[in-house]
Amino acid sequence: MSAQFPVARPRRLRRTPALRRLTAETRLHPADLVLPMFVKEGIDEPQPISSMPGVVQHTRESLRKAAHEAVEAGVGGIILFGVPAVKDAVGSAGDASDGIVQVALRDLAADLGDSTVLIADLCLDEFTDHGHCGIVTPSGEIDNDATLERYASIAVAQAAAGAAVVAPSGMMDGQVGAIRSALDSAGHENVSILGYSVKYASAFYGPFREAAECAPTFGDRAAYQQDPANADESLREVFLDLDEGADMVMVKPAGAYLDILRRVRDAVDVPVAAYQVSGEYAMIEAAAANGWLDRDRTIMESLTAIRRAGADMILTYYATEVARKLG
Ligand code: PBG
Repeated sequence: MSAQFPVARPRRLRRTPALRRLTAETRLHPADLVLPMFVKEGIDEPQPISSMPGVVQHTRESLRKAAHEAVEAGVGGIILFGVPAVKDAVGSAGDASDGIVQVALRDLAADLGDSTVLIADLCLDEFTDHGHCGIVTPSGEIDNDATLERYASIAVAQAAAGAAVVAPSGMMDGQVGAIRSALDSAGHENVSILGYSVKYASAFYGPFREAAECAPTFGDRAAYQQDPANADESLREVFLDLDEGADMVMVKPAGAYLDILRRVRDAVDVPVAAYQVSGEYAMIEAAAANGWLDRDRTIMESLTAIRRAGADMILTYYATEVARKLG
């Protein structure tokens, strides 16, 4: 049995910053942070995103500059989202070799080489005119298996353009397996897959839909993304993805799903990522702008909590800023 008060005084180890630093159980490190970036086709100036102050839709050039700054700051990776000039029902821009994501991946691969990890978000919603993550049937449903063929093709295009990791985020059943076999058949067996294995149908993605211009024109994503009420289902999704060949798995969103993150971390032996999504960012920014929360402390506390809950890496719009602060 351990000592009791007054012999035991837990406050002894909290007395000074040096003691607290020495005894901290969780540390943030720049290398564990991944910066999500948006690149838009056909613009001359970066476009602000009103619901995400400080985040922009990049031009090709501004993307290169900001990516360089992220790498300089020590950020571990970059995940890229594209906004094409033209959208259609099947998301043709997603796998076109001159599609905006492929063009930007080639830019970044040339600029940055092996100095960072280039991750491509792999989905259809940014590229479809209806804003859904898959092929829509005449009755308005999302056709799972027809969508897998599109994902397979996008994966090969992204790998050919220089993605080291593809990250399927569409929540179609069988997506990791379909992508793995397509990559292998095309000679990309060394490109890895970060599965958005646990992805909830979340209101916290609201600002992202402005950033990626991908709000669904009808319905919502509840028929393919997970119900926030469910937890056991997340482990099922994770194990399916691992069986299909995922190299890493993700939990998304992060802040409201820390219980899920801990369960996943305890259940698997692969790297686990968590995504501090656009709505988490927007809430901090809005409260800080009103003077209601201390911005810096809230950012660090939110990220520390995500690490503590089990994330090996965190996707966060704060990646560059926090990496600089951590030095
Ligand atoms: C889908 C995708 C989304 C996000 C990342 N990938 C949106 C969605 O599922 O509706 C959200 C990220 C964020 O909110 O920051 N391609």
